[in-house]
Amino acid sequence: MKVKRIYEGKAQLFIPDLDYYCKVGSAKYEPSYAPVFYNPEMAFGRSLSILVLRTYQKIFRKKLHICDALAGTGVRGIRYSLEVPGIQRTWLNDKNPLAVELIERNIRLNLLEHLSVISCLDANLMLLKNSYGDLRFDVIDIDPFGSPINFVESSIHAIKDGGLLCLTATDIPPLYGKYPDTCLRRYSSISYSTEFSHELAIRILVGAVARKAAQLDFSCNVLFSHYTRHYIRVYITLRRSVRRADESLKNLGYIVFCNNCNYRMIEKSSFHHVSLICPFCGTLLKPIGPLWCGPIFNKSFLKNMENVLLQYQPEEYSKIKRLLKFIGEEADGPPTFYVIDKLTKRLKVSSPKLKKVIEQLQALGFFASRTHFHPKGLRTNAPLKVLYDVVRSSL
Ligand SMILES: C[S@@+](CC[C@H](N)C(=O)[O-])C[C@H]1O[C@@H](n2cnc3c(N)ncnc32)[C@H](O)[C@@H]1O
Ligand SMILES: [Zn+2]
Repeated sequence: MKVKRIYEGKAQLFIPDLDYYCKVGSAKYEPSYAPVFYNPEMAFGRSLSILVLRTYQKIFRKKLHICDALAGTGVRGIRYSLEVPGIQRTWLNDKNPLAVELIERNIRLNLLEHLSVISCLDANLMLLKNSYGDLRFDVIDIDPFGSPINFVESSIHAIKDGGLLCLTATDIPPLYGKYPDTCLRRYSSISYSTEFSHELAIRILVGAVARKAAQLDFSCNVLFSHYTRHYIRVYITLRRSVRRADESLKNLGYIVFCNNCNYRMIEKSSFHHVSLICPFCGTLLKPIGPLWCGPIFNKSFLKNMENVLLQYQPEEYSKIKRLLKFIGEEADGPPTFYVIDKLTKRLKVSSPKLKKVIEQLQALGFFASRTHFHPKGLRTNAPLKVLYDVVRSSL
């Protein structure tokens, strides 16, 4: 394999030579063309994961036994070992023998032999082999090609009580409603293309995890989640408790949506009482779900993340701070958001300043904020009629 040496965070890494593994006839590096996967565009997401793990470690004050189940070059697990305090051991696994060769090389390069275990197995097999007693993990990171859903059940078996499950999903078109059949097959959930589909993707994924967790007597608590360009990422703590699992299931439900007037309603737990006609414009409503209607951010965890970020000031400090600020604003808001241009299109007017609309809604006593999901997104609990009135009066 043709490799080159790079730095990412505190790690030095041998990665496939990005200039060599280009699509034929194109100068652009394509991660899937290399014999081992490495995507420089995911570096920001990895840095954010480090912040989440540092915060989790600080709050729970325990030694962390971490599993990077689909490790590729090992970049994630290696960065955890180097950049998160209190690591007991990091297990790096990949089923690709070439990846494992590179992981071994990178572990030596970073002098991490004493903290690392390496295996070349199917991730499910590896997780199930570690699914009892002290073999279990405090943190499991699932960063696959496409959907993480096939690794969720074995992860729940292999996680300690109160452990942190970190999932990346890049199968965006099914989750966003472009391929609803695929979404139904994969997540047993109906997706639909809306202006808030990025958020739906997170809710559908968490909903599927919560159902699987409940079957195994675990509850879910989402500490943090975000959408960044071509992927979503969720961080969920899992507690073993039948009572908590039952409580957790109460966060499942449906969102019913009107594609004509932007009306939407959250129907937690039960679906049977929902009128399928939009109360605002009379159009047939579209049910989306089942999905997670509960919180997808935890305000107190976010505050802790901000404090930890301030203390250790990583390279991407400003970018992370900006994202946390956005998410902090929207964290207490209701599920789903509006996109101002869609509202004004229906009103056949030009768009007012988002800031002005938010201030007016707040002045009326409603929750209103921006959202990190969309530059023109508006999260509010104001009824749709009030929202349309405020948009008109903000022009
Ligand atoms: C998206 S890449 C991982 C990238 C890596 N985590 C990073 O941050 O650069 C997915 C990896 O999963 C591995 N993989 C795919 N299916 C697997 C399976 N069933 N078990 C173990 N590894 C698997 C692939 O070989 C690939 O290296
Ligand atoms: Zn309607």
